[in-house]
Amino acid sequence: GKNGYEDYMIKEIFEQPQAIRQTLGSYLKGDEVSLPFIISKEELDKIDSITIIACGTASYAGRVGEYLLEKLTRIPVKVEVGSEYRYKDPIIDDKKLIIILSQSGETADTIAGMREAIKRGAKVIGVTNVKGSTVSRELEYVIHTLAGPEVSVASTKAFTTQLLSLYLIGLYIGKERDQIDAEKYKQSIDTLRILPEKISGILNNKKAVEEVASKLSKYENMFYIGRNSDFPICLEGSHKLKEISYIHAEAYEAGELKHGALALVTEDVPVICLSTIEHVFDKMVSNITEVQARKAIIINIRHENIPSIDNVDSEIIIPAIDDLFTPILAIIPLQLLAYYTAKFRGCDIDQPRNLAKSVTVE
Ligand code: M6R
Repeated sequence: GKNGYEDYMIKEIFEQPQAIRQTLGSYLKGDEVSLPFIISKEELDKIDSITIIACGTASYAGRVGEYLLEKLTRIPVKVEVGSEYRYKDPIIDDKKLIIILSQSGETADTIAGMREAIKRGAKVIGVTNVKGSTVSRELEYVIHTLAGPEVSVASTKAFTTQLLSLYLIGLYIGKERDQIDAEKYKQSIDTLRILPEKISGILNNKKAVEEVASKLSKYENMFYIGRNSDFPICLEGSHKLKEISYIHAEAYEAGELKHGALALVTEDVPVICLSTIEHVFDKMVSNITEVQARKAIIINIRHENIPSIDNVDSEIIIPAIDDLFTPILAIIPLQLLAYYTAKFRGCDIDQPRNLAKSVTVE
């Protein structure tokens, strides 16, 4: 049941601290990542590229993975959506690691890509939330996210636990391949452990997001902009908004806006700015200034150690943690924003039009 919540989506948003805690409980032993399988050091040393195959929200988790896995392992990472990958005659050999991300473990296009990868001899790791699903049954190396059943069509706790799994894979491979020193590894594990309470902190601040949503709910077009790993979080945040509120939203790498889409920014197009990555903050400030000059309403989401920007319409502040881990916090206000905006618009949150929870046809 909904346990007193109005919709499954908001219930599942609030279950995220617990979902993360459960998943960590299974895959951390003391101060070590402990995955349910072992790949030998020799095999790991051979890997020269990683491809992540997924659809929808899982593919956006993959896009975050691109940043964090490259950082942790120094192996190049590419993300492919299942529906494209399966028909492109993909280049696969035994030096490639493939990661399959699927909440349901039943998405037809993702599974077709997975089977192709197995057939062509890649090493394949699956991440799924459903034990006994096709992904869980057909792969030898599987991480089960322990988010519990996800009922809402709009995926939330599956996304954050998928991100968590990618951190675990990255830390595991990075350490085995000597890309992470002992201190950084230890710090990273400590950061993972504090995520649940940081997420709870953001959830307790939901009123601030609700106020912003009440203002945004009357618009029909929006942009989400960010740099570095804030960008794929913008992709996922805008995806959430589209699905449940039916507002047209697009995500851009903040630096790409002026190569075209800036032409669409007017006072009628609010811009959600994600400013949680310190080393690109100065660049974000200049991109925000560009959209301000077009009179757009600006909602800036930053963490507490990043300075506030003058003349923005609203600010949402999240706790500061190591840049590498902020995506898992930064998505929380965007989930809430999509939820409350859709609520103000009177939408059916758990059953958005035209969509199904699990896409088992191609
Ligand atoms: O079960 P999967 O993770 O394979 O599902 C993939 C997508 O269909 C799913 O994430 C979809 O985009 C959701 N409606 C997102 O909220």
